[in-house]
Amino acid sequence: MSSAPAQIAVTGLAVMGRNLARNLARNGFRVAVHNRSKSRTDALIEEFGHEGEFTPADDLPALVASLEQPRKIIIMVKAGEPTDAVIDELVPLLDEGDIVVDAGNAHFADTRRRENALREKGLHFVGSGVSGGEEGALNGPSIMPGGSPESYAALGPILTKISAHVNGEPCCVHVGPDGAGHFVKMLHNGIEYADMQLIAEAYDLLRQVLGLSPAELADVFRDWNSGDLESFLIEITAEVLSQVDPTTGGPFVDVVLDQAEQKGTGRWTVQVALDLGIPVSGMAEAVFGRSLSGDVVRRSAAAGVLPGPAEAKADVDRDAFIEDVRHALYASKLVAYAQGFDAIRAASEQYDWDIDLGAMATIWRGGCIIRARFLDRIKEAYDRNPALPSLLVDDYFKEAVANGQEAWRRVVATAASVGVPAPGFSAALSYYDGLRAERLPAALIQGLRDLFGAHTYRRVDRDGAFHLDWSGDRTESPA
Ligand SMILES: NC(=O)c1ccc[n+]([C@@H]2O[C@H](COP(=O)([O-])OP(=O)(O)OC[C@H]3O[C@@H](n4cnc5c(N)ncnc54)[C@H](OP(=O)(O)O)[C@@H]3O)[C@@H](O)[C@H]2O)c1
Repeated sequence: MSSAPAQIAVTGLAVMGRNLARNLARNGFRVAVHNRSKSRTDALIEEFGHEGEFTPADDLPALVASLEQPRKIIIMVKAGEPTDAVIDELVPLLDEGDIVVDAGNAHFADTRRRENALREKGLHFVGSGVSGGEEGALNGPSIMPGGSPESYAALGPILTKISAHVNGEPCCVHVGPDGAGHFVKMLHNGIEYADMQLIAEAYDLLRQVLGLSPAELADVFRDWNSGDLESFLIEITAEVLSQVDPTTGGPFVDVVLDQAEQKGTGRWTVQVALDLGIPVSGMAEAVFGRSLSGDVVRRSAAAGVLPGPAEAKADVDRDAFIEDVRHALYASKLVAYAQGFDAIRAASEQYDWDIDLGAMATIWRGGCIIRARFLDRIKEAYDRNPALPSLLVDDYFKEAVANGQEAWRRVVATAASVGVPAPGFSAALSYYDGLRAERLPAALIQGLRDLFGAHTYRRVDRDGAFHLDWSGDRTESPA
């Protein structure tokens, strides 16, 4: 315990807050700690008090009194109403210039509301994404702080020190004002959903088409982890697939109920992208895929009842198909990231956040769930051209997809012909083909809209909006 004023406080000492407080203390910061139920505070001091300088507080007034000014208080409680409850109790105790950090998984719209309310009281409110689960919180997470530049000037040295580091660089960058940090954290989770869906589709196709066992598939993923696909998620896929169930002695993956759950950040990402008008089909298919898996009523009504293709076997060479699926996975993943960065760009424009897109890839290189080798490629792409309209038109990405596109098309075609669902792979390919099309059938949609609703259309050869007199003589008039 410490007698000098604490430099930073953490309130909310469940798994994430406790580990974040320990990370701060282990890095030499004097940390004041508090939890609504005192037992968690006591447990932290008893078990880990020796790790650094902690100041336990029984209530929020004591926590606030133990801090040097300007005070820096990290809230790490259950997202939603609990966060508002803590803020409401904390604010009257604070002085102008103090900094309140919400490091939970808040919706960025809530963060914008809270930042605005606290700014009016002369306080800084920082919505900060923290990724990496309990392990990351303890040993170095990826940190995505929003809020004012002044608040980051005070917090930056602390947050960068406790964050993960890759090649000596911290996985923590000031994302932008108000809700920018939580927006980018939400997108991180959306991309994580897409990544996992694509990995699951690769596993399913290889298993169903080639009849590989989970143990053999673990070897495939282990092998992939030494190339472009190298990432935390591929690494742990090999680990899960090689796990044996202690009860049956069979593959662990075969005894797990095939209904994927979700906490909501993937769904938020898709909802927000719909409002921004940005296609994030990779993430949407991932969210829908989880919903379908959990729809027990309709699945049991259809399983074994709805007929599949007459020929459910594909005549493919084992090694060639594994290589094709690797290409399909990488290409689809590039599309998912391109879509994710497009959503960040659109939100940055809409909310005036001025987000440095290349720096976002840097934040995610370590500490978080989507950490991956190819994030360096994203950083390099934005270094080459900060105004890149889409990652897919950067030379590296263009070539990577071009190299794998024949394989990608074969995989999508094989999945359709044998009746194995691959919504992530096929939606990604459709997006790619839509993006590169010289002309889209949207022209026909505009014609239909003008016919039934007089919604007007624009022409390829003249400016302005037009309407055709569909029920009369079909002459065209300017709208
Ligand atoms: N778990 C993860 O891997 C992970 C990863 C990234 C981000 N996050 C985010 O980090 C935050 C904390 O996550 P967690 O898993 O450690 O904890 P949690 O289970 O989400 O929340 C439990 C904590 O919230 C406190 N709390 C709940 N209602 C409260 C209220 N009305 N007033 C004051 N405190 C209240 C609890 O206090 P009591 O002990 O008194 O009940 C406890 O400290 C969440 O926003 C979560 O979404 C979690």
